[in-house]
Amino acid sequence: MPKPVLLLTRKLPAAIEARAAAQFDARLNPDDAPWFRDGAEIARRAAEAGAQGILCAAGDPMGAATIAALPASVRMIATFSVGYDHVDVAAARARGITVTNTPEVLSFATAECAMTLMLMAARRAGEGERMVRARRWEGWAPTQLMGVTLEGKKLGILGMGRIGRELAAMARGFRMEIHYRDIARLPPELEQGARFHDSDASFLSTIDVLSMHVPGGEATRKWLNAERLAMMKPGSLVVNTGRGGSVDDAALVAALTSGHIRAAGLDVYDGEPRIFEGYFGLENVALLPHLGSATIETRDAMGHRALDNLAAVLIEGRPPLHPVG
Ligand code: DGY
Repeated sequence: MPKPVLLLTRKLPAAIEARAAAQFDARLNPDDAPWFRDGAEIARRAAEAGAQGILCAAGDPMGAATIAALPASVRMIATFSVGYDHVDVAAARARGITVTNTPEVLSFATAECAMTLMLMAARRAGEGERMVRARRWEGWAPTQLMGVTLEGKKLGILGMGRIGRELAAMARGFRMEIHYRDIARLPPELEQGARFHDSDASFLSTIDVLSMHVPGGEATRKWLNAERLAMMKPGSLVVNTGRGGSVDDAALVAALTSGHIRAAGLDVYDGEPRIFEGYFGLENVALLPHLGSATIETRDAMGHRALDNLAAVLIEGRPPLHPVG
């Protein structure tokens, strides 16, 4: 039996590319050439290769137009991400194409990233780093770059899924009090004493730090808008490691400029890699380049998870392990 043809849109960790080449007739993108930004080009390469599977990644344009243009040979799209807002799952289903993602293996790493941003925002780490690098630091001073402690603060987790719960566990080590907002209340064994809020007003007016963990999509588009920011206590912190589209950037920049929001930490952006211009002029926002899952261990685990799914369907004729939609 010939190996199934697999098109990889992105350069992946070496161990993952080696496994892909061993199990599949893998068509790699060894230089990470940016053809993955163009849906028509993804479809053209899939047709040229006669691909049965596509291993794509977060941000690849796998919308309805790309899916409509894919050759009939394509039976599966595995995304190297937990988020799948970049894939039109309904359009794929309509064409009989299975879509899978890589849940669980990146929860701890993404929570670590949220914790990093929370600390950077609270302790003004970005400002301090910029000062030192610019050779502007003139020595220790009693009132220099004073931030706020996380100890005893109320952490509000928007979206208490796996990542949110990992963050809650870390934040308990910082003696924070955990609050959360989600569609439904969790069972006590998952809540671990965290307090559920059934309204945005109760949630936002209680917390000192907001950490956002919601998937992209229309349901949460610009969720953090001027009205909700106004519900937050003056001096609160905001962190987003979910998807950039859930923040109204102009409203957050206004709140950071007025000081109503003391500081923010962002890892994701609406329309990334483009970043809302207003953030660049602000000292009180830490900006990371979508690093949430970027550890060596996690990226390997994500790759193996994507390949496990592809192998199940395209080699073993079994159902996918992590189907979405
Ligand atoms: C995801 O997996 O959805 C992240 O945003 C990329 O790791």
